[in-house]
Amino acid sequence: MLSNIVRSSKFSLKSVCKTATCTQQVRFQSNEVKDHMGSYDNAYDDYQIARGQSRRAFTYLTLGGARFLYATGARLAAMKFVASISASADVLALAAMEVDVTKISPGSTITVKWRGKPVFIRNRTAEEIAEAEGCDTSELRDVQTDAERLADASKPEWLVVLGVCTHLGCVPLPNQGIYKGWFCPCHGSHYDTSGRIRKGPAPLNLEVPPWSFMSDSIIKLG
Ligand code: FES
Repeated sequence: MLSNIVRSSKFSLKSVCKTATCTQQVRFQSNEVKDHMGSYDNAYDDYQIARGQSRRAFTYLTLGGARFLYATGARLAAMKFVASISASADVLALAAMEVDVTKISPGSTITVKWRGKPVFIRNRTAEEIAEAEGCDTSELRDVQTDAERLADASKPEWLVVLGVCTHLGCVPLPNQGIYKGWFCPCHGSHYDTSGRIRKGPAPLNLEVPPWSFMSDSIIKLG
């Protein structure tokens, strides 16, 4: 069997043991000549690109072009995604709202819908303003002075609050309740003329939305 291996592998046998129990060292030597890369099949020399025939420029151009296309596609995808999450024109139009307040008489409240929620705009009388300013804030559950709830301290008659009860979200009734501010009939919360919670289960004052005067007759919500 050993002789078969030796014959088929084209190796010459320098010394070999004569018996099956022999432990003498066996050495093989190849008759093939390796090329300068240590290869028996000369593949390195056969397949290497000859000098002056380099395709490096073409390869760089191809890879660079592919990367440019990938980057352009990624940029377009990012722009489409940002455009899809931006507010549309109709949403932006609803974000801010102008209200003419000239027809709101002293002591009355109007309700407008803004961003899907009711908003109370109240023209307070001098008596209601005095009540709101004279309140002992140490008794309040959600401590806020009346001035902190106004958009313009020089126009204390105008109070704007969200018409959403801070207990469970019912719409309170204006000019009702113990304090003549707002009353929520759902569970009996009483708000004063500044929209602050005074009695009942609601934990917080009626929220004041962002608003401002555009002129003496127009206010802007949002
Ligand atoms: S929702 Fe207004 S008191 Fe409960």
